[in-house]
Amino acid sequence: MALKLTDDQSMELAMQEALLGAGFVSPNPMVGCVILNSQGELLSKGHHGIYGGPHAEANAIQGLKPEQLKSARVFVTLEPCAHEGKTPSCAKALAKLPLAEVIYGLLDPNPLVSGAGIKILQSAGIKTTHFAKRQDDLEEVCEHFLMNFRAQKPFVSIKVASSLDGQLALKTGESQWITGEASREKAHELRAIHDITVVGKNTVLTDDPQLNIRHPRFPGKENKILILDSSAECLKRPDLRIFKTHRPENIFVAVASDISSPLAKTLRVGTQPKGQLNLKELLARLWQSSVRSVFVEGGAQVVSSFISQQEAHRLYLFQAPIILGANSGKAWSEGVNIENMSEKIQLKTPKVQQLDSDLLITGRLFN
Ligand SMILES: NC(=O)c1ccc[n+]([C@@H]2O[C@H](COP(=O)([O-])OP(=O)(O)OC[C@H]3O[C@@H](n4cnc5c(N)ncnc54)[C@H](OP(=O)(O)O)[C@@H]3O)[C@@H](O)[C@H]2O)c1
Repeated sequence: MALKLTDDQSMELAMQEALLGAGFVSPNPMVGCVILNSQGELLSKGHHGIYGGPHAEANAIQGLKPEQLKSARVFVTLEPCAHEGKTPSCAKALAKLPLAEVIYGLLDPNPLVSGAGIKILQSAGIKTTHFAKRQDDLEEVCEHFLMNFRAQKPFVSIKVASSLDGQLALKTGESQWITGEASREKAHELRAIHDITVVGKNTVLTDDPQLNIRHPRFPGKENKILILDSSAECLKRPDLRIFKTHRPENIFVAVASDISSPLAKTLRVGTQPKGQLNLKELLARLWQSSVRSVFVEGGAQVVSSFISQQEAHRLYLFQAPIILGANSGKAWSEGVNIENMSEKIQLKTPKVQQLDSDLLITGRLFN
């Protein structure tokens, strides 16, 4: 029997579809599309699956005959594109069909084309409706793209694996493992859906991590790594696993003076009064190098710097049901100072997910 969907269920399904593109479409947005026939039954769904490939709407209408689409209703998470780029305009393709209505979640954030897709549909006599509900969730689906467009900078996510009492390691430096396997698998997925992973020098020297992607959805996907290391200490250690795991063109070391190495590309950036590398400048350099999303994976000093300087847009906190002790542990926010409660940093639109016995708490930080 055909599946009848309400408007809310249709947009929810379109959002789930959109997320299937995570890790494959950057710098494009993740977009999902659901089509109901004139009886309100699910006809098809589609998503933007690969950068340069067909858009969500094109995938959803693929293989459907015009008579099936007579008086159909299309739900799409983002306004259908008006312009021809690597693929034809979705708004123009939809305008040729005998649709009753297009319901879109968000307007295109590009001020040059915002509303243009809607106008094309309206000119063809198709009703267009803005889906006013679930706006936070719809924005979350394509938050990297929205940040890129609105602020012309990369979207920065912070990931921390913490104990119940906020420690990310023991003072001895030992931190493996705080969270369980399900959390670690999720962290690999998050690594895969960002353009670059950033870590501090101490994490590289203490943990000797590989920082590659080990996740069944992304077999063989290569990722980029950036190490914050002003005096390039890590480059004196060719034995580190990171250099054996990644090709030199995928490893970047942010440094404070002119240094070159066959192990990695160096990126000279200025320093701040306390001698730390200037994160604003670093992010601007990454933006110029086409990096559109950054995944900061620690350690405590690096995470604290991004938060203190308000250069962090989302937090992913994996919290394990263990206690490490404030005296024996290292707090992940050790470099964040709050003078009074009115300055507390509040996670916006927080969500909690259980991963075996751990919790993943996520929410937006700064805009
Ligand atoms: N549980 C987790 O999620 C997790 C994740 C990662 C690491 N860890 C643990 O964290 C510990 C290491 O953390 P950590 O706090 O000692 O060091 P870290 O954050 O890994 O590295 C800090 C170093 O990065 C360099 N740096 C350059 N620019 C910086 C900037 N703007 N802000 C901050 N640092 C900058 C500095 O060295 P220079 O001055 O020489 O440039 C600084 O000393 C290890 O024990 C590791 O196991 C835990």
